[in-house]
Amino acid sequence: MTIQTVDDLEFDIEDLESMPPPSAVLMTTPGHFDVSYVINPHMQGNIGSIDHEAAAEQWDALRAVYQAIGFDVSVVEGAPGLPDMVFCANQTLPYLTPSGDRGIIASKMHAPERRDEVPHYVRFFTGLGYENLSLPSRVNDFEGSGDALWHPRRRLLYGGYGFRSDVRAYEFISDKLKAPVVLLDLNDPDFYHLDTCLCPLDEETCMIYPDAFDDDGLDLIYEMFDDVIEVPEVEARKHFATNAHCPDERHVIIPENCDETVDVLTEFGFLPIEVDTAEFIKSGGSVFCMKQMYW
Ligand code: ARG
Repeated sequence: MTIQTVDDLEFDIEDLESMPPPSAVLMTTPGHFDVSYVINPHMQGNIGSIDHEAAAEQWDALRAVYQAIGFDVSVVEGAPGLPDMVFCANQTLPYLTPSGDRGIIASKMHAPERRDEVPHYVRFFTGLGYENLSLPSRVNDFEGSGDALWHPRRRLLYGGYGFRSDVRAYEFISDKLKAPVVLLDLNDPDFYHLDTCLCPLDEETCMIYPDAFDDDGLDLIYEMFDDVIEVPEVEARKHFATNAHCPDERHVIIPENCDETVDVLTEFGFLPIEVDTAEFIKSGGSVFCMKQMYW
C-alpha cells in the first residue's frame, strides 16, 4: 500500500507492527572519495576541490562518534573510480521481515557514474546471509536509504521520489516488505534525496526542512509524527542539518554550523553531537549519507 495524501491513510501509527531498530553501522572508507562530476547542485564548482587529508580526518572522527556512543562500525573499503562510494546509505535498503529474516533491496542508481557501487554492498550483505531482492525492470531508479526511510520502530516507510528514485519502486517495496509507504514528492533540487530534508529522530519526533515538500507531503509528515521540528533554511540547505542521524533515539549526530537546530534538539531532550563534514558537503552529502544502518 502506498499513501499519497492523508485521505489514503487507513491506519494509526500505533496499529502498525513494531520493528526493532537496526543496531549495526556500516561505513565506507574515503580513500577514493572525490568530486569528479556534478550530479547534484552542491557539487557545482567543487570538482577537484577536496582536501583529502581533511576528509580522512572528518571520516575518522565520525566513525569514532558512532563507536563512542556504543555502535560497532563495519567497513566496506572504497574502490578506485567510485568517488561517491563513501555515501554508503544509497546503494541498498536493508530490511527485517516480520519473521526476523534480513534482506536488502539493491538500488538502481540514477547516475550511471554511481552504478558500479552497488555490487560492493550486495556482496557485503549477502555475505552476512541477507536475502537480495531485486527491483523489477519497470523501475528505473531507486537510491536505497537515501530516499527510503523507516519510521523509528514501526513497519512503515517514507519514500522520497522525483530526483533519484522512481515512484514505481515503492509499490513493489511495500508489497515485498509488508510495509505501507508514505510517498513524498521532492521538488527542490538542493534536497534531491529524502534524507536531506526529513530526519526521523524517534517514534514521535522528526526534523524537516518544510519547503522541500508539497502540501500533501507536509500534511502526511505532520499526521505521522506528534512533534515536527522545522529547521531554518540556511542550516538545512547549506549546512545539512536535516541530514543528521539519530541512531538510538537519543544522540543526534549533526553537521557543524546548525546552532539553532542544536538548541531546539536540546530543548526536546536530545543530545546533539556536532561533527565537521565540510569536505563531504562539497559533494552534497553529510552524516546520514555516510553510513548505512542494518540488523
Ligand atoms: N555526490 C553524491 C550524489 O549526488 C552524494 C550522495 C549523498 N547521499 C545522500 N544520501 N544524500 O549522489
